[in-house]
Amino acid sequence: MLAVLFAYLSKSLLKIAGYKIDSVKAPEGGVKIVHLSDLHAKRFGKGNRRLIKKVAGEKPDFIAITGDIIHKYRERDIRAAIEAVEGLCKVVPVYYVSVNHVMRSTRYRGFSAMLKEAGAIVLDNVCVHAFGITVCGVNCAKIKSGKYFGMAEGDDGELKLLLAHLPQYIDKYALAGYDLALTGHAHGGQWRIPFTGIGFYSPGQGLFPKYTSGVHSCGNMRQVISRGLGNSQCPLRLFNRPEIVVVEIYSL
Ligand SMILES: [Fe+2]
Repeated sequence: MLAVLFAYLSKSLLKIAGYKIDSVKAPEGGVKIVHLSDLHAKRFGKGNRRLIKKVAGEKPDFIAITGDIIHKYRERDIRAAIEAVEGLCKVVPVYYVSVNHVMRSTRYRGFSAMLKEAGAIVLDNVCVHAFGITVCGVNCAKIKSGKYFGMAEGDDGELKLLLAHLPQYIDKYALAGYDLALTGHAHGGQWRIPFTGIGFYSPGQGLFPKYTSGVHSCGNMRQVISRGLGNSQCPLRLFNRPEIVVVEIYSL
């Protein structure tokens, strides 16, 4: 009985992970971002209200969602995702980048339109200027093909933020000239070994993956990795609570 309760709480109790990123390119007054990833159509309360309330409590400038908001194109998955996006868009602007397997489906165009109708700004290999920084979204297909979106856009003095899904391509993101990348995908390694900071497994990285959580550097670029909110194949998260990431970028 206790094991069942522990398993339930492990995947249902939201936690906040806060990171401060200093940069000479930060806009005056800084910028605060809530970073969400890998919802996989999970609901934290009806209409995801527990998630939305906790995000609103952080008072971010905007929300960045880095993929895997659904698991499959099932009706209940789509409804959960759209409800969450609608609620989050009532808080602040929401920027969304999609993921390879989601985009490959012929239903992606319809789903993308629904996200936009719900209020999200979908960044499929495009950049926008917002809150004194450049925000770009690059999908997995582009990254895997090696066409990882050279940073042609944006003022050199302006911080260039990348929203992507896969953390293991950190070197490509750095090479492309981004200052900061927000990624997810690894689900924190799904099961974490207590007191070690080590996750167990991630697709694309294998056992004991390097990129599952926290802040990593590559040259001048930093990458913040979300442990995600939901589950995909493996329904169990161990010592790895669903995570709302809060990134504060401030000037030196
Ligand atoms: Fe995922």
